[in-house]
Amino acid sequence: MKQDIDWGSLGFGYIKTDYRYVSKFKDGKWDDGVITEDANITLSECACVFQYSQSCFEGLKAYRTKDDRIVCFRPDMNAKRMADTAERLVMPPFPEDRFVEAVKQVVKANADFVPPYGTGATLYLRPFMMGTNPVIGVKPADEFEFRIFTTPVGPYFKGGAKPITIKVSDYDRAAPHGTGNIKAGLNYAMSLYPITVAHEEGFAENMYLDAATRTKVEETGGANFIFITKDGTLVTPKSDSILPSITRRSICYVAEHILGMKVEHREVLFSEVADFAECGLCGTAAVISPVGRIFDHGKEINFPAGMDDMGPVTRKLYETLTGIQKCEIEAPEGWIVEI
Ligand code: PLP
Ligand code: COI
Repeated sequence: MKQDIDWGSLGFGYIKTDYRYVSKFKDGKWDDGVITEDANITLSECACVFQYSQSCFEGLKAYRTKDDRIVCFRPDMNAKRMADTAERLVMPPFPEDRFVEAVKQVVKANADFVPPYGTGATLYLRPFMMGTNPVIGVKPADEFEFRIFTTPVGPYFKGGAKPITIKVSDYDRAAPHGTGNIKAGLNYAMSLYPITVAHEEGFAENMYLDAATRTKVEETGGANFIFITKDGTLVTPKSDSILPSITRRSICYVAEHILGMKVEHREVLFSEVADFAECGLCGTAAVISPVGRIFDHGKEINFPAGMDDMGPVTRKLYETLTGIQKCEIEAPEGWIVEI
């Protein structure tokens, strides 16, 4: 284990690790891929990624268990989602079995950077892909690079598991071409201005509403919503313009099949949010972060159950999910991949 990292005080930032995975696509096929020490990418000024932002990314984590094994959580789901994203962006999907193999290789190579058990930190993996050859007329590239780098991370939101305050955004985070159908990693540039405004105003995140009517809850800049009703039902917003969060889908499964809860995945009107007992954000980076308060243009929605700490149902979901991720609770078939 690296001796010079203070694992317990890590935030969500980039720390360069020793190795990354690279595979290149040329003449209609992916090469064999290598683990390399070179963290830099040199490309033509006219590469499609710079001109037309032909790129996408994924995010997943490696965890160290109490008995010092290293595991990943559902990397096959990231492989599938990235293949869907690639198809939407006219990029050649990186084969899903090779994606999982590359995850294993890059984590194994960087095992020294997988934070110790019990520190709250994990190794975050960032698979990403871009169009690399020069393109000046608007069309997709025909050469691509797929990479995975890793970085040890702590909590995504400052203050760890403390409840956060968010705001209803004045901006839409919809795809610039207005189609919705976001799969992963698309068009995050559109969310950079609204997140800067939110941070300047002292909020941790934006709650985006649907662009067409601004009446339905979508998601935040980097996580899906979960809500708990007063009678303990888990409700998650359904929309084809939010990222299909692997964490959210896992939480819904855990709630229904392990905790025996009622689960509803449906459209959620903003007007009903004040009636929920608990609210949280979920994602690989966010894990489950409780929301204590939502600001809506001078009005406040408060979630007293999650104001000082996680609400009781959110906590139960958090403990079960993270217990599975750290191999302390038996995982559903295929969820844990040993490195
Ligand atoms: N929503 C957005 C916009 C995200 O960027 C992310 C994380 O990548 C999520 C939701 C959570 O998805 P997941 O649980 O698969 O990490
Ligand atoms: C993740 O949860 O993996 C994400 O990519 C969120 C993020 C935008 C940092």
